[in-house]
Amino acid sequence: MSLTPQWLDELRARTTLSTLIGRTVKLQKAGREYRACCPFHQEKSPSFYVNDEKGFYHCFGCSAHGDAIKYLTEAQGLPFMDAVKELAATAGMEVPANDPRAAERQARAVGLHDVMAAAAAWFTEQLATPEAAHARAYLAKRGVTEHQGKAFGFGFAPDGRNRLKAALASFGVPMLVEAGLLIQVEDKDPYDRFRGRLMIPIRDQRGRPMAFGGRILGDGEPKYLNSPETPLFDKGRTLFNIDRAAAAARKAGRVVVVEGYMDVVALDRAGIGEGVAPLGTALTESQMERLWKMADVPILCFDGDSAGQKAAARAAVRALPLIQPGRTLRFATLPAGQDPDDLLASGGRSALDAVLDTAEPLSARLWALEVAAAPLDTPEARAGLRRRLADHAATIADRDVREQYQADFRERFDALFQRAPRQNGFTNGFTPGRPSQRGTWKPGRGFVPPSRPLTDTARSIGSDGVTQRVVSAILTGILRHPSVLHGHAEALAALPIHDHRLRAIRDAMVDAAFDPAALESGGLALILQDGGHEAVSGELIRTNGLAFSFLRGNADPDRAMRDLGAVIDAVVERAELEAALDRATDRFKANPDDEAAFAEQLRLGAARNAAAETLATLVADQDGLGN
Ligand code: UTP
Ligand code: MN
Repeated sequence: MSLTPQWLDELRARTTLSTLIGRTVKLQKAGREYRACCPFHQEKSPSFYVNDEKGFYHCFGCSAHGDAIKYLTEAQGLPFMDAVKELAATAGMEVPANDPRAAERQARAVGLHDVMAAAAAWFTEQLATPEAAHARAYLAKRGVTEHQGKAFGFGFAPDGRNRLKAALASFGVPMLVEAGLLIQVEDKDPYDRFRGRLMIPIRDQRGRPMAFGGRILGDGEPKYLNSPETPLFDKGRTLFNIDRAAAAARKAGRVVVVEGYMDVVALDRAGIGEGVAPLGTALTESQMERLWKMADVPILCFDGDSAGQKAAARAAVRALPLIQPGRTLRFATLPAGQDPDDLLASGGRSALDAVLDTAEPLSARLWALEVAAAPLDTPEARAGLRRRLADHAATIADRDVREQYQADFRERFDALFQRAPRQNGFTNGFTPGRPSQRGTWKPGRGFVPPSRPLTDTARSIGSDGVTQRVVSAILTGILRHPSVLHGHAEALAALPIHDHRLRAIRDAMVDAAFDPAALESGGLALILQDGGHEAVSGELIRTNGLAFSFLRGNADPDRAMRDLGAVIDAVVERAELEAALDRATDRFKANPDDEAAFAEQLRLGAARNAAAETLATLVADQDGLGN
């Protein structure tokens, strides 16, 4: 089936864009236009305009721009023909069955494929010439192996305005212009678009080159020059390396989205063939749909700078209307300032694996973003957080998933602000007949958390930080296992403790850390007794409902000491992150344009939540042990 431009114009003319968009977006009249909060990006004040006369929408915030067809394909993810059919039905038009120009256009597309294939072959040949010595040296410097060079089809565009034009003259200048290989400005002679650049073909799913990215050799602007959009190339609908990644993704059961061409190449070199990249723009719905064809839960591994993290945030919000049971995204967090290529170079495959394996679920990323977005020190601010979370959840089209998000956000919110636990207190989360709730310690891997969801009790401790109960549990544990002081005196000294009596005991313990007498059975208790802390330490041991292994008389001592050390570390880490997050938030508040502060705040927010989660998991684990 094919459509003439005239027919499409008629279709647009008969479509009232504001009616179409108004079905899903709340529009306000603004002069001759309509205004709304942009459906393509998240914003609080409207910068999205719909103009019925021109039949276009435009967003001044994210530059989203298009007509009715584009709206249906972009905002609702419809394939082009489905969008056309839907509009035609509303407009009362018949979709033409076939028109005589179809064959001609088909032939032109075939022609473009041939041109692009010929250009790719020619660029590859040029890479072998003496003129390209510096390009080959550059590839070697970037660690691109010869095998990779062939597999990705790297090439070289020689410096000059008529080199490709002459070499591919047989296709004719108009065809080369249409393919985006020549630039035509006004009445000047068309000339080569790519000059003196390393050439990377962008291929369609079937491996046919449809565009190129050309990297400058050395420094300069733009770093990458890309093909313009052509009948073959729609950059919002494809992904770099999709042809090679599809098979690898099926085998690996995952797909990894990185930002840069060279990141994909670096992943491939490290044995991760399932890497793809968008083409320098935000991840679109249609790209997400392609990713979901490759794996149920694509991992986004964007750069650790603020641009990368903002792009990830935008993708998170954009994915919400499209997620389904089992179909979602995960977000890997790279060290600040590194891209996957850098991380592989500095830390090798294991460093990247660690980042990918700990990728955050979409729900956790949204939560972290919103928690970090603003201070939460007033009731209004907290209500604002809840509203933002509810708004996110509301955009989820799938009802089951939406309800799960609402519940998840509610739980996190209650835990963060320490609502009264809904279950019967802290006593014991153990219910007979439930599967094992314990995590396990695996040699070399440390603590492996339990797979069940955490109880409210565990969560409130994890996110509330240093409650008196955990502190007193730690101090009691040290009384029983004083040798823990050895590795943890410093961490213990850093524990923020509000209760002055407990603080005094802690200080006495830290002082005693290097006293050999403290390590003898009962020695530490004697030292505390001499220091006048006897009454409190006796009380400590009697009370404390938390079921940590190190509070039980019959626990395996190794296990108990390991648990105690882990709890001390987690509490201290969380407190430090909390303080750092406060500082970053202050910096960001003082200067909202400070990109680095923004990035830092995001990173710390995520790290703080992770530390809270670890602590909650430790408590949950112990919770299941019984007394
Ligand atoms: P990066 O600069 O992160 O790419 O830009 P990279 O692949 O890591 O680059 P190098 O070679 O290691 O320095 C991410 C992506 O954004 C697009 C490209 O698709 C690039 O891979 N981009 C970037 C452009 O299209 N033009 C540019 O000038 C820069
Ligand atoms: Mn890079």
